[in-house]
Amino acid sequence: MSFIPLSQPDITDLEIDAVIETMRSGRLSIGPRQARFEELVADRTQRRLGIAINSGTAGLHLVLLALGIGPGDEVITTPFSFIASANCILYVGATPVFVDIDPRSLNMNPALVEKAITPKTKAIIAVEVFGNPCHMEKIAQVAQRHEVPLIEDCCEGLGGMHMGKPIGSFGRAGVFGFYPNKQVTTGEGGMIVTDDDRLAEACRSMRNQGRPVADHTAPNQAPVKPTGPSGDPFLSLGGSWLHHERLGYNYRLSEISCALGIAQMERLDVMLESRRRVASLYMRKLMDCPDIILPNVEVWEDMSWFVFVIRLNDLYTQVERDRIIVGMRRHEIGASNYFPPIHLQPFYREKFGFEKGAFPLTESVSQRTIALPFYNQMDETQVELVVHTFKVMLQREQLLKRD
Ligand SMILES: Cc1ncc(COP(=O)(O)O)c(C=O)c1O
Repeated sequence: MSFIPLSQPDITDLEIDAVIETMRSGRLSIGPRQARFEELVADRTQRRLGIAINSGTAGLHLVLLALGIGPGDEVITTPFSFIASANCILYVGATPVFVDIDPRSLNMNPALVEKAITPKTKAIIAVEVFGNPCHMEKIAQVAQRHEVPLIEDCCEGLGGMHMGKPIGSFGRAGVFGFYPNKQVTTGEGGMIVTDDDRLAEACRSMRNQGRPVADHTAPNQAPVKPTGPSGDPFLSLGGSWLHHERLGYNYRLSEISCALGIAQMERLDVMLESRRRVASLYMRKLMDCPDIILPNVEVWEDMSWFVFVIRLNDLYTQVERDRIIVGMRRHEIGASNYFPPIHLQPFYREKFGFEKGAFPLTESVSQRTIALPFYNQMDETQVELVVHTFKVMLQREQLLKRD
């Protein structure tokens, strides 16, 4: 591991105790912790329903399936994201239609989204890149105007707000991710949030091998003799453990993960504040650096900081950027290139024939981004060390340019 890693989860005794208590409880899957975790994330995002799943990718897959999207359908999304935002479209046999980004927010340009709509468009997947919710209301308006469901891939944005609305509340459904670099982690995991009962029911069934949905949250539930291998008494209410109504998957999130998620949700505001503190330390220490573009956050956005990504100005090439990242890593400072464009990934190039230049803004941004170490526990000395090392690497590039 680097001396200062790129990211690091924030785990306290609260999380550790919650996990141990769950392990002692004997109930390791489909239990009360799942229901509680779903409730907490749904409440936080002002949605009625939460469906815990074992990854953000699984959540995106289920939402597309629940919306009936399949071969012959088009889904509009961004080429500047983590690959799962587009891969989920391929899982269901539909075609991703990429649109370029706004270079300030790094999110999809709403005007280009509107232009890309055709009679075949069956959904829009909009991503709050790095936790920035900018343009989400405009994209939601486009979706409404054309009666196309909006899916928020909000894997990077838990806790953020845009124009008074929480990230995750803009589309037909939102999908969060809880990988260890996220604002909230469950180790691996995710959550679908929605107000749509039918969509929720389909997702709940599909995450559980297509079994009928049992009501795990019903108050004052009479105890029923356990029927399922997990010993879950409530499964008998919805049918046998071996009855499958539709094609399903095992996308369940364990009770252990949910216990971790509940403890993290209880600390969410404190953790978001820590992230804001680290982001503002970086902002202050990098403000005087003319060679870079700092993250752009409009005053009306309440960003949920996922990562801290700066951009070299356009006097720098990708080769120079890569050399800076390697140089920082040599000094045991985690740094990375978030994100290489999806359309230029080997698999996408081969399948769809994309060439360089297809999405110029995405490509121009992505060849000059550097994600700096970013996690709750970072103190000012560590931020100072990262910034200092980064500036030394920049100076080295300037010397190399001069020679
Ligand atoms: C924008 C975005 N979408 C989807 C995902 C996929 O989430 P997971 O890794 O939980 O499958 C991620 C995770 O990094 C992400 O950042």
